[in-house]
Parts: sequence; structure tokens; C-alpha cells
Amino acid sequence: MEVVVAKSAGFCFGVKRAVDQVYEQLKRNDKPIYTFGPIIHNEEVVRDLEEKGVKVIETEEELQTIRDAVVVIRSHGVGKRVYDILEGNGIEIIDATCPYVRKIHKVAQEQNQDGRRIIIIGNESHPEVQGIKGWGNANTLVVETPEQVETLPLVEGERLCIVSQTTFNYKKFQDLVDKFSETRYDILVLNTICNATQERQVEARRIASEVDAMIVVGGKSSSNTQKLYEICRRECKNTYYIQTLGDLDPDCVNSVRSVGITAGASTPNHIIEEVHTNVRVKF
Ligand code: F3S
Repeated sequence: MEVVVAKSAGFCFGVKRAVDQVYEQLKRNDKPIYTFGPIIHNEEVVRDLEEKGVKVIETEEELQTIRDAVVVIRSHGVGKRVYDILEGNGIEIIDATCPYVRKIHKVAQEQNQDGRRIIIIGNESHPEVQGIKGWGNANTLVVETPEQVETLPLVEGERLCIVSQTTFNYKKFQDLVDKFSETRYDILVLNTICNATQERQVEARRIASEVDAMIVVGGKSSSNTQKLYEICRRECKNTYYIQTLGDLDPDCVNSVRSVGITAGASTPNHIIEEVHTNVRVKF
């Protein structure tokens, strides 16, 4: 049987880098290790790190209470205030902010200093957006829908700088930029969408269209895994959504000639490998 594993399956570059940095610290740092927020939306990884002694800090208030420790900043990044708290308390910072997100922070800070109001296109409650906001000022705004553009508290003749949450949908981003372009503001637009998600979807669609059965591995509550499943299901009706190898019914892949495997952005590599090995060897 032929088994094809998507190259883009699982962690994107930024998340992999962040998770690796926490394990690296465990190996070579004797101080207590914390992550500011769970390092990844994957319970298994977070539990494993907790068992090894890594604690998760959820709030800035909690952050204020720690001393003589290491804090890992996750790939979503954080606002300037968090760096100030950590530096002020002499905490060692391991900055695992994804470089693509860090770039947005820099742009927001520079353009803000240059007098432009920062407009972030994205979901206001998402930690990445909160982090970007923390590099603007009190005037920074977050916009998610075209309707919101009409009600923004903008001042006549204002200069704007528009950036995007890295995982925002490109079509929606473009619609919003078009909406802003209809206004008379002086706008500077920076498309800061990361294409890791799109690449994963394009590859999954291609593989699903070529195989007899497709396996999508990821948490049931992971929205990007659900999306991958829908895309694959459209191309291949024998598509199966599993969280771990234990969910896979051998009958599903027993009598086919080719199987494709992909996985959501928060699925650890060893789970993908386990599914791959078992499908190849046992079925
Ligand atoms: Fe991942 Fe960084 Fe893109 S965290 S989704 S590679 S912006």
C-alpha cells in the first residue's frame, strides 16, 4: 500500500520553534520555567511539559509575582508591557514569538511613532491580536467585519497603518482593505497574513484528490483541523478524522491501495508518525 504524508502536516514553523525552545530550556536551565499562556493548543503537549515542571501563567498579575525564573513567550507574541514587567523583575525571557508576528510588532511600533493610527484586521480576543495591540497605543483599533469600518472613531484626514492577524482569511482581509480604500484616509497597508495555513490546506486537497483514503489527524476542537477535514472530504469520500491512532478503524484502510495523511497545526509530530508507521506496517 502506498502511504503519502503531507509535508506541511502538523506544527507550522513558528509553533515548532516555540515548543522546541521550551524543551531546550528544560535541558539546560535550572531555574523554574514558565510559559505565558499554553505554549500550544494541544493538551497532550501542555500536560507533558507540566509533568516535566513547566508551569503556565495566564495573567499579567500572576506574572508580577514570579522572581528568579525563566518565562517563555509563545509564538503568538505579547505586547510591550509584558516585556517591561519581565525585564523590571529581572526575569530571563526566552522569546519564542514567531518572527512573522515579531515583524508586525515592529511595524506597529514604528508606524505608531511615525504618527499613524494602527488598524489590526483580526479577531480582537485572539492573543496574537492582543499582543500586536500592545505595540500600538490607546488609539489602536481592531476590525473584523466591513460593517465595523463605518462606525470607527476615526478623525478626518487621519493617517492609518493597516496590518493583519497572521491567520486571517486573505479574501476577508482584501474586502476590508477595499472598504478602507473607499474612504479618504491616507492608508498604508501591510499584508501580514502567513501562508502556512494555506499551504497546508492546498497540499491536503491535492493529496486527498489522489488517494483512495485520507486520514486527518488533530484535536476535535481544533478549527483548523476541522477545516482540513472538510477540504479533504470534498476530494475523497473515504476521509477519516482521528485524534490519535486509537481512533482509527483498521477496516477503513484495509482494502485500499493508497492512503494520505495530514494533520492540523497543533498535532505533534510523534502522533503523525505513529499513525504513519501503523498504517504502513500493519494495515
Ligand atoms: Fe505559524 Fe508563525 Fe505562521 S506561528 S501560522 S509560522 S505566523
